Amino acid sequence: MDTAYKLIGPFTQLITLAGLPLKGAIADEQIVPLAHAGILLKGNKIFKTGNYESLEKEAALLGAMTVTLEGEYVCIPALTDAHTHICFAGSRAQDYAMRNSGKTYLEISEAGGGIWDTVQHTRKASLDELTTSTIHRANRHLSEGVTTIEVKSGYGLSVKEELKMLRAIKAANHETPAELISTCLAAHTLPRDFEGSHSEYLEKISQELFPVLLEESLCNRIDAFVEKGAFSPENILPYFKKAIEQGFQITVHADQFSTGGSAVAVQINALSADHLEASTDKEVQLLAQSDTIAMALPGATIGLGCAFTPARKLLDAGACLAIASDWNPGSAPMGDLLSQASILGTFEKLSNAEILAGITYRAARALNLTDRGRIEQDMLADFLLFQINDYREILYQQGKLKPAQVWKNGECVFTSNLD
Ligand code: NIG
Ligand code: FE
Repeated sequence: MDTAYKLIGPFTQLITLAGLPLKGAIADEQIVPLAHAGILLKGNKIFKTGNYESLEKEAALLGAMTVTLEGEYVCIPALTDAHTHICFAGSRAQDYAMRNSGKTYLEISEAGGGIWDTVQHTRKASLDELTTSTIHRANRHLSEGVTTIEVKSGYGLSVKEELKMLRAIKAANHETPAELISTCLAAHTLPRDFEGSHSEYLEKISQELFPVLLEESLCNRIDAFVEKGAFSPENILPYFKKAIEQGFQITVHADQFSTGGSAVAVQINALSADHLEASTDKEVQLLAQSDTIAMALPGATIGLGCAFTPARKLLDAGACLAIASDWNPGSAPMGDLLSQASILGTFEKLSNAEILAGITYRAARALNLTDRGRIEQDMLADFLLFQINDYREILYQQGKLKPAQVWKNGECVFTSNLD
């Protein structure tokens, strides 16, 4: 294990996010930027933060290597994107054109678009092709500051093809400095070529796929799309219960177009309920009173031209709000987490602190990870450097400002060649 000490700084501002709450609203005044600060690392973890000169003295005693910065830099925790579908093949540019010409979801699907289109392309792709394209997208995300990325299956929709996707995600995880957390979304939609009911499909998946996921350590998370036309709460409850019995953690695509999913998520104590664009005050209260994290996906709102998740109401009611990109070929092809989070903030009147919390420690918590998302002792040394002198520039610039450096596990894994 690497236990070498490393000092990095000085930063004009160090934004640690230490002490901010897990749930509820946060005012910007609760963020306390540390001026002229540094970070002392021990191996892949944060050892100490504080005044740069004091850390320099300590670093000299410890024989630490130093990375001295010239110019102005703001340092914040690296980002977590807790909901993506970046393992896929094909494009849905046709869907975009049809949607904008006024075609409905059903019309697009009947014309060969929608999820099933991506399923066909993904099934045709080889394991290597899927691995390569997943690495490529993960590395793009990494260069934009996202060091932890959840990645779902869900475009295979058979035992064999879901396994191919999850094996590709596992292989990709070894080839990118980003950390990929995989989730099985075999319950994305009933595959058109399955001869049987929704319940029979779910039964087959839980009996034949779940054991292999555990045997091959492919994932410990199960997701489902609870929606009209996908899976109903009645179908999905027994499926989730089986998953929980086998030790899986649960996350739910909930309340995207109609309500029902978030109540399921709360009932089974899911880690997160994601989407929530259709949630009413009733669902907002339900989520706020639970430990289930409410995950806004502004990329899907922008992609489909529908409502934003009621983020302000959720925070004011006391919920834990995370923000993810939902990067997928259909509803959210942009995949730019910082831009989307900034735009959500504008429409939902969120503070800088609430947005940053939603893409750092609160997002990590939705993946059951408590070792990242804040810059404090014993946390992973995952952080970003921006060439600015005020942290508020980051969201103000709507994602156009990219990190100058990205650090993961105590190593600089990306340096921008832009000024
Ligand atoms: O999260 N809502 C369901 N699933 C994805 C969309 C997948 C697709 O259209 O390919 C989502 O938005
Ligand atoms: Fe999704």
